[in-house]
Amino acid sequence: MEEWCKTMPKVELHAHLNGSIRVSTLLELAKALNETQKGAINFSQMEHVIMKYDLSLIEVFQFFDLIHNVITDHNIVTRITKEVIEDFASDNVVYLELRTTPKRNDSIGMSKRSYVDAVIKGLRSVSSVDVDFIPKTGDSKSLTNDKCNGNSRKRIIVRLILSIDRRETTEAAMETVKLALEMRHLGVVGIDLSGNPKTGEWTTYLPALKFAQEQGLNVTLHCGEIRNPKEIKNMLEFHPQRIGHACFFEDEHWRKMKSTKIPVEICLTSNIRTFSVSSIEDHHFDYLYKTKYPLVLCTDDTCVFNTSLSKEYKYAADSFGLGRWEMFELSRNAVEYIFADNGVKNYLRKYFNSVSKNMEV
Ligand code: IMP
Ligand code: ZN
Repeated sequence: MEEWCKTMPKVELHAHLNGSIRVSTLLELAKALNETQKGAINFSQMEHVIMKYDLSLIEVFQFFDLIHNVITDHNIVTRITKEVIEDFASDNVVYLELRTTPKRNDSIGMSKRSYVDAVIKGLRSVSSVDVDFIPKTGDSKSLTNDKCNGNSRKRIIVRLILSIDRRETTEAAMETVKLALEMRHLGVVGIDLSGNPKTGEWTTYLPALKFAQEQGLNVTLHCGEIRNPKEIKNMLEFHPQRIGHACFFEDEHWRKMKSTKIPVEICLTSNIRTFSVSSIEDHHFDYLYKTKYPLVLCTDDTCVFNTSLSKEYKYAADSFGLGRWEMFELSRNAVEYIFADNGVKNYLRKYFNSVSKNMEV
């Protein structure tokens, strides 16, 4: 089944760049850093979090700090991006919205802009697969179906979402939104609010998030990762284009969701491993799926949670009794919730149609 899930074309809408770093690359970079700067990395702590199966939210964010420590120059950002794209493409992800927090680090001459430039360089440097990340003018009219074109090279369409970290200031968040607006022609399609849900007040970012929406950027919020009914209610009233997780939703939140139909990015392994949902049987995927609520299966952080999108589909199939056809439809439906323009959407709809005729479902 996992092999079949791998061959199925998939759409990934919730993946954090640095949380998806290859483990081998992380270890290599950590070793190299330790050789040049003795004590820069606490290896025993790193091995502990990498090897540990279940991670509390605190440990997850320690893990991110460790990953961020190895990013000591722009070339490393470029390399991580290149490898992450290669990994998603080899898992047969045909459309990927990759999110990352633009980082400013004066000590290594990195600005938010130069960080995102390094990410874009990573997209350009992939050679094993065609990476389509520049939006075509005129609503992506020139995106054509490979099969119709006789082009057998593998292709992955990538769009970027810039994240705001809940540790940032209002001004830093606004800088990220302005950067996203300036980089729309390079495939930036949205803004995300993420970071430790126990940190800060989301209202700090409201001016930046509102500005993003007014300017036509899509917004997705990490919402309901911990119990915080007031924040969840206010976030839903803001009406983001999508939300991630929705683990601690109460009846009043689901009632609101029923009328707004905001699509939910579901990350099964992430939710279970961080104890955000007590058991897979209790996961809200079941309720959402049965009520045909708009949802999309995603990975969150393939490195941190040792997963892939194929594994997430297999996990859903095993846990909720989905057959091949149901999984294919789940994957196909995700196309409706992407942030890219209608040209890309139409291309993907046609692509899934053509594949459905040849796949054993
Ligand atoms: P980056 O933005 O590419 O550096 O990816 C890692 C970052 O994504 C982390 O430092 C967090 O801010 C954010 N992130 C990743 N996974 C989660 C999650 O499960 N909840 C909230 N934020 C997350
Ligand atoms: Zn996330």
